[in-house]
Amino acid sequence: MSEIKLHTTLDSYPKDHIDKGTEPYITPNFINNKFTKSTTSEWIDLHDPATDQIISKVPQSTDQELNEAIESANTTFKTWKHTSIIKRQQLVFKFVELLKKNHDRLAAVIVAEQGKNFDDAKGDVLRGLQVAEYATSVTTELQGVQLEVATDLETLMIREPLGVIGAICPFNFPAMIPLWTIPMVIATGNTAVIKPSERDPGACLIFAELLIEAGVPSGVINIIHGKVPTVNKLLDHPDIKAIQFVGSSKAGDYIYTKGTSNKKRVQANLAAKNHVVVVPDANKAQFVNSITGAFAGAAGQRCMAASVLVTVGSTKEWIPDVIEAAKNLNVGSGFDKKSDLGPMISKQALQRAHDIIEEGVKTGANLVLDGRDIKVDGFPNGYFLGPTILTNVTRDNIAYKEEIFAPVLSILSVDTLDEAIEIVNSNPYGNGVALFTTSGIQAKKFTKEIDPGQVGINVPIPVPLPMFSFTGNKGSFNGDLNFYGKAGFTFLTQAKTITSLWKTSLIEDSKPSTSMPTHN
Ligand SMILES: *[C@@H]1O[C@H](CO)[C@@H](O)[C@H](O)[C@H]1NC(C)=O
Ligand SMILES: *[C@@H]1O[C@H](CO)[C@@H](O)[C@H](O)[C@H]1NC(C)=O
Repeated sequence: MSEIKLHTTLDSYPKDHIDKGTEPYITPNFINNKFTKSTTSEWIDLHDPATDQIISKVPQSTDQELNEAIESANTTFKTWKHTSIIKRQQLVFKFVELLKKNHDRLAAVIVAEQGKNFDDAKGDVLRGLQVAEYATSVTTELQGVQLEVATDLETLMIREPLGVIGAICPFNFPAMIPLWTIPMVIATGNTAVIKPSERDPGACLIFAELLIEAGVPSGVINIIHGKVPTVNKLLDHPDIKAIQFVGSSKAGDYIYTKGTSNKKRVQANLAAKNHVVVVPDANKAQFVNSITGAFAGAAGQRCMAASVLVTVGSTKEWIPDVIEAAKNLNVGSGFDKKSDLGPMISKQALQRAHDIIEEGVKTGANLVLDGRDIKVDGFPNGYFLGPTILTNVTRDNIAYKEEIFAPVLSILSVDTLDEAIEIVNSNPYGNGVALFTTSGIQAKKFTKEIDPGQVGINVPIPVPLPMFSFTGNKGSFNGDLNFYGKAGFTFLTQAKTITSLWKTSLIEDSKPSTSMPTHN
């Protein structure tokens, strides 16, 4: 297997789209701290979504390579789990420092492979970096509990690492989501095999380079690629102890069912339909700016995108202001500083959005802003969709039922806050929801009665910082323990209790006792 170098360095990375005719770079596997070219015969084309040009070839890693990656993680775990916690913490500190140093390089690779605009890509990196910073709290979060439960009898409960963690990552946050795994795995003394999205693995491979530079031993983090065969390998291999997944509901249901039936721990973040509710006492300007940015930002490809607006009472009169604000957003290349949103991830994703819009209109929705025939100067082949708004959407409309994952806002109008709450709560998904209001009473009522797991009051995308957890629920989450935060540490560790008796005054027992010890 031949070793290869990444196509970017700290100082040399794309500042613009790659010239036509440039040879696509090979995306390597990362096994045992080495970047190697896959021996596969099956390569996946990675298209720059703004130009449609093939910029990289991503392998369907071979079965042998997948086995090697898992074996590397499995073998390393035996010694790595005994590494002292402060050593592991120091490695994460160093990794954090290197992420900061490489922030622009990481963002640039994300723009080229994923399409989002540069500032948004920097945010993608930052939100992951914050998980890495939080992971350094391992020395506090993993402290055990201990109690003298009877005279001289002590029980100590500690949490130990699980083993090899398999992570299956989506295309929409190519930096943030691998970083939900990598630093937490290092801090807790686990090892991992990570499958970044085959559409944008570049940032994850830069992380690998930074892990070597930070001094993380070979085999702790391994990266492989591919589609269904790679996912199935992680789900079926007995040495993988837990699976972390973020992505679509169809894949997530499959992964949860198969993974748990193979006796693995699984946490899976799935699709969503996030509602923003606005009541007449809201601050109008704040609301209009928030909803517009939150439905169209990242081309609507966030699992926390605000894809549904529920206007209460007279706030339906603010719809023209939302349309106006959305019209003023610039759609274009992620490398163009003026762009507010970039292209969608693929031709298929764009076509699917077009189809849903068409079907939604056919079944009663009014298309009040149509982004389908957008033209972006200099990018005739990009997968662009301009901000699109549908009103008079009913709950049985396809535009309401499907997660479109595009800059499309579906608007429903109701008369009361109670009706809005009923709509939100009867939706099968439960990632996020937001209310815009200036009334504390309405806000309190809303937060008490609303079901979704991440609630914003005048905050359109209420993803908490990593000292909390990502708390989506209902159809947006499969599992018991959420990603990162305290629950993240719990997911990645298992409890062990040690009960010891060191008698300080020896009293001879007269005879053996056969009854259940009661420790009194
Ligand atoms: C993985 O490690 C475990 C525990 O050390 C061991 O029992 C198992 O055989 C290893 N798997 C492989 C494929 O070597
Ligand atoms: C809203 O949609 C319904 C069908 O779902 C249709 O009968 C009605 O005319 C529409 N109203 C407006 C204002 O377009």
